[in-house]
This record gives sequence, C-alpha cells and structure tokens, in this order.
Amino acid sequence: MSHRVAWGAVVAIFILAAVIGGKAPTSAPLVPDLVHAQANYKYTGAASCGSSSCHGSTKPKADFPKLNENIVWQQKDKHAKAYATLTNEKLKSGVSPSKIAQNLKIAKAETSSKCLVCHAVDVKPELRGPKFDISEGVHCDGCHGPAEKWLEPHAEKGWTHEKSVAVGMYDTKSMLLRGEKCVSCHLAIDHEMVAAGHPDLLAFELDTFSAQMPPHWRDKGPFAPTKAWATGQVISLREAAKQLGDRANASGPLVTDALSKVQGHGAVVKVLFGVVDPAVQKSVETDVATLTDAVSKGDKAKIAATSKSLATAMNGQAAKVAARDFDAAATKKLLGDLAASGDALGAVGPRAAEQGAMAMDRLYSAYSKSPGQKADKAAGDALDKMFGTLDDPKKFDAKTFSGAAKTFGDTVK
Ligand code: HEC
Ligand code: HEC
Ligand code: HEC
Repeated sequence: MSHRVAWGAVVAIFILAAVIGGKAPTSAPLVPDLVHAQANYKYTGAASCGSSSCHGSTKPKADFPKLNENIVWQQKDKHAKAYATLTNEKLKSGVSPSKIAQNLKIAKAETSSKCLVCHAVDVKPELRGPKFDISEGVHCDGCHGPAEKWLEPHAEKGWTHEKSVAVGMYDTKSMLLRGEKCVSCHLAIDHEMVAAGHPDLLAFELDTFSAQMPPHWRDKGPFAPTKAWATGQVISLREAAKQLGDRANASGPLVTDALSKVQGHGAVVKVLFGVVDPAVQKSVETDVATLTDAVSKGDKAKIAATSKSLATAMNGQAAKVAARDFDAAATKKLLGDLAASGDALGAVGPRAAEQGAMAMDRLYSAYSKSPGQKADKAAGDALDKMFGTLDDPKKFDAKTFSGAAKTFGDTVK
C-alpha cells in the first residue's frame, strides 16, 4: 500500500449499526507494564460502546468527541476486519492466512493465540464481558483498555479521563503510551511468523498510520503530529533494534529485513535528534553503523550486543521525546533537515527513504495547516514523486528520490 496520506483527510461520517472488536500485544516491549497494566478488568466489547446514544451516533457532533467513533471504526477502520482476515482467502494482497497457519502448524488461525494476539482482543475467557465477541477483531477495548469499571461512569457529568485511567482505561492520550500500544502490534512480528509468510511489518509511522486508520479523534494543537511522529519513531527504532537482536542468530532476509527496519527508523531518528539532542544523534549514528557492519560480517555477538544497547538507549529517550512540545520552528527545522538528508536517506535504501517520505508528508501537513501557512502545490508534487519511487522497493531509484527531496526542501525555505 502507499503510505502517502491525502491532506486534510477528515474522519468520514457514515450511517450504520454496531459491531464488535479486540486487543493484544506480542513480544514484550522493554516497558511491558505500560501496555499490559489493566490485567484484571473485563473487556466489554464494541457492542457495549456502540449504541446510538453512546459512540454510535448517526448524527455526529461538530466537534470531538463526535460520538460516532463506532461507526467510523466499523466502516473505515481495518482493525474491525482484523479477525475476518484470519479466514479470508481472497485478500487483495494475495496473502493467504491458512498458508501462514499451515506453515506454523496451527490448525486454525482464527482460534490460535499466535494470530489472535494481534488480530483480535485475545484475553482469557474470564475477562470477557457478556457482550464480548472475539470476531470483532481489534475493537475499542483493544486500544482503550478493559471497560468494565469505567463503561457506566465515564458518561456521567463530572467524571474525568484520569478517573477512567485509574480503573483500567488505557491512556491513549499519552503519546508515549499510544505509540507503545500501536507498535506492540505493528512492529513486533517474530521471525517464525515472517518465515511462514506473514507480511513483515516494515513501514510503521505513528502519525501516518493514525491518519490512515482514519482517526476518530483530534489531538490538541497544530504540532501534535510532530510529537506523534517523533515519539513513534523513537519507539519504533527501539522495537526494530530489539527485533534485530532477536533475529541475530537467524540468517538471510530475516536479518537483512530487520536491519533495514533499524536503518529506516535510524535514518529519521538521526534527523530528529539533530534537532532535539545532538549527543544522542551521534550515538544513534554509531550504533546503526556498527549494526550495518556486524550484519555484513555475520558477527552475531556484536549484532546482539549493539541491538540491545541501542534498544535501551531509545527506551530512555522515548519518554523524553514524548514529553516535549514541538512548535512551528522545530517542525520547519525538521522538515528542512529531512529534505536535506535526501541523499543520505536514499543511499541507505527504500526503507529509510520511505520513513523519510512519511515524515516529510506528515510534518508538512501539520506545518502547512498551522496559523499563517498554506499548502504549496509544488511541495505536494515533490512528495508524490518521492512516494512514487517507493511503490516497488526493488525498483527504488535513490536519485529520483533525493531529487524530489531537494525540490521539496526548496518549497519550505
Ligand atoms: C491489537 C493489535 C493492534 C493494535 C494495538 C493496533 N493495531 Fe493497527 N492493525 C492491526 C492489525 C492486525 C491490522 C491488519 C488488519 C487487517 O487488515 O486484517 C492493523 C491495521 C492497521 C492499519 C491499516 C494498514 C493497512 O495496510 O491498510 C492502520 C493504518 C493501523 N492498523 C494503524 C494503527 C494505529 C495508529 C494504532 C495505534 C493507535 C494501531 N494500529 C494499533 C493490529 C493492531
Ligand atoms: C505482532 C502482531 C501480529 C501477529 C502475531 C499476527 N499478525 Fe497478521 N498482521 C498484523 C498487522 C499489523 C497486519 C497489517 C499489516 C499492514 O498492512 O501494515 C497483518 C496482516 C496480516 C495479513 C494480511 C492482510 C492483508 O489484507 O493483506 C494476514 C493474512 C495475516 N496478518 C494473518 C495472520 C495470521 C494467520 C497470523 C497467525 C499465524 C497473524 N497474522 C499473526 C499483525 C500481526
Ligand atoms: C487501534 C486503536 C483504537 C481503536 C481500535 C479504537 N480507538 Fe478510540 N482512540 C484511539 C486513539 C489513539 C485516540 C486518541 C487519543 C485519545 O483521545 O484517547 C482515540 C480517541 C477516542 C475518543 C476520544 C476522541 C476525542 O477526540 O476526544 C473516543 C470517544 C474513542 N476513541 C472511542 C472509541 C470507540 C467507541 C472505539 C470502538 C468502536 C474505539 N475508540 C476504537 C485509538 C483507538
């Protein structure tokens, strides 16, 4: 798929009834409790959220929350189909879930935790409320946490978000926790799964993927996307490093794909830290170079050790970046620096170029919508050209990419 997001895409409004959904992360992130904190409350299912007087309103409010979240999710959000995917042999992508399952010696994908952990809300039977239905895929509770204790009270006057969080709501308003949540399913794919034919989740970028969901929320402030991008990248680099470490003893594409994920996130994280903390920039640069060298030499011990130290460093940095507020000047500087890195991104390869293109796309979208700015057609054309070079990674042309990045850069001076 293309990860270029149409600017100004707004949550679409549709009319229909309710359905159900799920949640669940995989390989434990370095801060597992942040993602799994709500272990003992019941998950109530989308059917408990989606009535027309709650989040299934057919007359959405003008402002957020619009109270039509269930309808947006059901009609536009792929998470609602995540469970159905496990038995869908006619996917446009041509990926066959039953073949993946067969290769893994799983009798049925739709009943195996190996798949449900990401394609549904895979919680123990005793944690399922009366309306819970596994076939709802990744539903409200999957991201917002088990609703047993806050479902009723959170609609009452005077109740606060903090009160909900105290009784099991997952705090997706925190950019750090939001990033952790998405990445727990969107990057953490293990190597057996990929070897069995599962798509290797290569391209995650928090703000792009949020825009593509599409979002049923609006974050405060024009530069929330900069924060989403920055936080998502640091967490993604951590997870990519962790994954490369996990695959250190494997060989072939499993290792080179994991490395290209590290290089892809590494290349844009380098630009980020060039703006927020040059000392960290240096160490990221060194670690990524060391990993590149270690992979080319097949030095498994060095791959494992350097992946671990890079992951630990990024784990520490993620909270700092998420706590930071980005403004117009920082966003513009990041845009300029990303555009000026076109040659470097292109030289690393299509994964780095893709991360660069998604970053420029989303940061420019935020910048051009901020007070006193407007979108420039030449910038949009240059972004289209950049994304055009990414349609087929095998035909990636670094020169066209960096040329487009330069043209783009000229439009944000
Ligand atoms: C419980 C696991 C899980 C969590 C948490 C999760 N996702 Fe997903 N997501 C999936 C799965 C599985 C799919 C694939 C659905 C399908 O096509 O069957 C998916 C698909 C998507 C897609 C569509 C991608 C495409 O190729 O069209 C987007 C966009 C997306 N997720 C964004 C997000 C964002 C943003 C977050 C965090 C706010 C998030 N996801 C959290 C599991 C998850
Ligand atoms: C770590 C989380 C995770 C696990 C575990 C997982 N998936 Fe997925 N799967 C995803 C995500 C995320 C996507 C969407 C990829 C994208 O579009 O970016 C996806 C996509 C797919 C697709 C392709 C969908 C399409 O439209 O092309 C199939 C098929 C699939 N998964 C089947 C399975 C099966 C079968 C299992 C169990 C053997 C499984 N998955 C386990 C996260 C996971
Ligand atoms: C893939 C993850 C994901 C799923 C699934 C999901 N949400 Fe959300 N939701 C988010 C994120 C991220 C936010 C933004 C942060 C916030 O406001 O908590 C959000 C925000 C919201 C908001 C606040 C909107 C605002 O602007 O104030 C409501 C209400 C909401 N979601 C309801 C739902 C309902 C109901 C469902 C199920 C039908 C659902 N969500 C499913 C991730 C998700």
